Amino acid sequence: MTAPAQPVLVCVAWPYANGPRHIGHVAGFGVPSDVFARYQRMRGADVLMVSGTDEHGTPLLVQADKEGVSVKEMADRYNRQIVEDLAGLGLSYDLFTRTTTRNHYAVVQELFKGLYENGYMIKETTLGAISPSTGRTLPDRYIEGTCPICGATDARGDQCDSCGNQLDPADLIDPRSKINGETPKFIETEHFLLDLASLAGMLGDWLKTRTDWRPNVLKFSLNLLEDLRPRAMTRDIDWGIPIPVEGWQDNGAKKLYVWFDAVVGYLSASIEWAHRIGDDDAWKAWWQNPDAPGYYFMGKDNITFHSQIWPAELLGYSAGESERTYGTLNLPTEVVSSEFLTMSGSKFSSSKGVVIYVKDFLKEFGADALRYFIAVAGPETTDTDFTWDEFVRRINNELANGWGNLVNRTVSMAYKNFGEVPTPGELTEADNAILDLASRTMDEVGENLAKAKFKNGISAAMHVVGEANAYIAEMEPWKLAKDESQRERLATVLWTALQVVSDCNVMLTPYLPKTAQAVHETLGREGVWAAMPEVREVKDDSPIDPIGVGLPDPDQTYPIITGDYTQQQARWERISVEPGTALSKPKPLVAKLDPELGQTGPEWAPVNS
Ligand code: MF3
Ligand code: ZN
Repeated sequence: MTAPAQPVLVCVAWPYANGPRHIGHVAGFGVPSDVFARYQRMRGADVLMVSGTDEHGTPLLVQADKEGVSVKEMADRYNRQIVEDLAGLGLSYDLFTRTTTRNHYAVVQELFKGLYENGYMIKETTLGAISPSTGRTLPDRYIEGTCPICGATDARGDQCDSCGNQLDPADLIDPRSKINGETPKFIETEHFLLDLASLAGMLGDWLKTRTDWRPNVLKFSLNLLEDLRPRAMTRDIDWGIPIPVEGWQDNGAKKLYVWFDAVVGYLSASIEWAHRIGDDDAWKAWWQNPDAPGYYFMGKDNITFHSQIWPAELLGYSAGESERTYGTLNLPTEVVSSEFLTMSGSKFSSSKGVVIYVKDFLKEFGADALRYFIAVAGPETTDTDFTWDEFVRRINNELANGWGNLVNRTVSMAYKNFGEVPTPGELTEADNAILDLASRTMDEVGENLAKAKFKNGISAAMHVVGEANAYIAEMEPWKLAKDESQRERLATVLWTALQVVSDCNVMLTPYLPKTAQAVHETLGREGVWAAMPEVREVKDDSPIDPIGVGLPDPDQTYPIITGDYTQQQARWERISVEPGTALSKPKPLVAKLDPELGQTGPEWAPVNS
């Protein structure tokens, strides 16, 4: 009997369905979360990885207005596009869904009701902004002004990006409408506020146990505790989830705040996943077992919602006298946030044309080139600049000349001289040295991956690749091949090199799953080594029903990303290279890029000189 695998929950930030994804987005949440999830599966954990598109709130309304289409039509279109982008990148979600499902609406409403009945949702009359010229309510993100906390002049009505604090539009100094510059008028309006002040004690006690978070995240979160005021969790907006309270649920002009609903997505997606696999209770292993860790991946502008709002929602929901439907829910174990990827010094921005879309990138260079670049040169701990020059250099020098070349020449020589994996003779000190390095480094890479230190991990793995190439250069197997008396030595060197290739492939699998599958086959092995996600069209057939007006159509179908990752062979351990395994002539592993691309960029994202 083997012990049951440890459940590990991997929660990935939900991208807004307001446009196709650019490489800045996937650098922040996409690639890091997938590298982590793939590593956890390889070490034997039972991973549940969930996300979806975030489809409510003003970011969607703003874009739909711009495109002159209904928000529903636009959300449907970008949801599909984003699903294609993320599946194409090989992100191994167990479920990637969306927030406009009946299941999500119902789970969000249950969370709200729990908080309300436990006394953490307080009704208050607050000031809401309206446009004096049109009389329409002016959503938070349409309002700009000076931050009352740090003085930045470009704070938005909901948040200041300079200091990270959440704001209410009425707090802004010199507020102005982003649409036409006019000064908004503030009128009284009733809302439900999450009583963060009364949750502060529980939040603080919990945060103080989170000592191993990245220091920036922890410090930021502890600072937030100093100014915990109630925050409005409802909005004057007609697009969103109905507020599940008598007298409110049928009001089409007031809905739940998008951030209240989006973070609940982690739970609702887990519940949807369980339903889809035919075991409605299966999600509980990741949410109710206190020994199941939950890791959350996002860009830095999302930290406050994951280290404060979401934990507050969870604590308040589970804190009542009587047991709620979902019981006592786990809090985040780690909030892993990335910094920003910029492009030639500017923030990616579709409207300014500073943008590289995932779709275009994948079509021309494939998933692993992007995954490699983000892992090795991405914004893990500081803002990082993307340049075509550096991209070309890294792909050509490191991935093609380093890794591709190592695999190719090792397998070619073994195939040409033996037609199969040769039987080694006695190992020399040099052979043992490179084998030991590979095996030690596997532990080191694993430790880094477990701590979400992706750059350190891949650098250590690529160091072994470099050393293996140096080993081959030193052993000169091409010379040994010309001397019949050196045949056993040749076999030993090539066997050693093949074993190191196999080890490096284990270490690179979470980063480069598609390439890893190809290397697996090149080594004469069969079956699925690294599983890939698939896109499936499903019905919105939740067994639980939301209430109120403006609910998702029960007949809608939508695409999900899912996959069967349990049958893959990938394991985080040395897999012995078996003498006698038949080899064939290897195909090139990594395509080299035209160096000129570094200067010009591709046609669809030219470098401006
Ligand atoms: N849609 C948000 C953004 O792009 C992220 C939401 S993460 C969630 O900034 F978990 F809250 F959904
Ligand atoms: Zn500020």
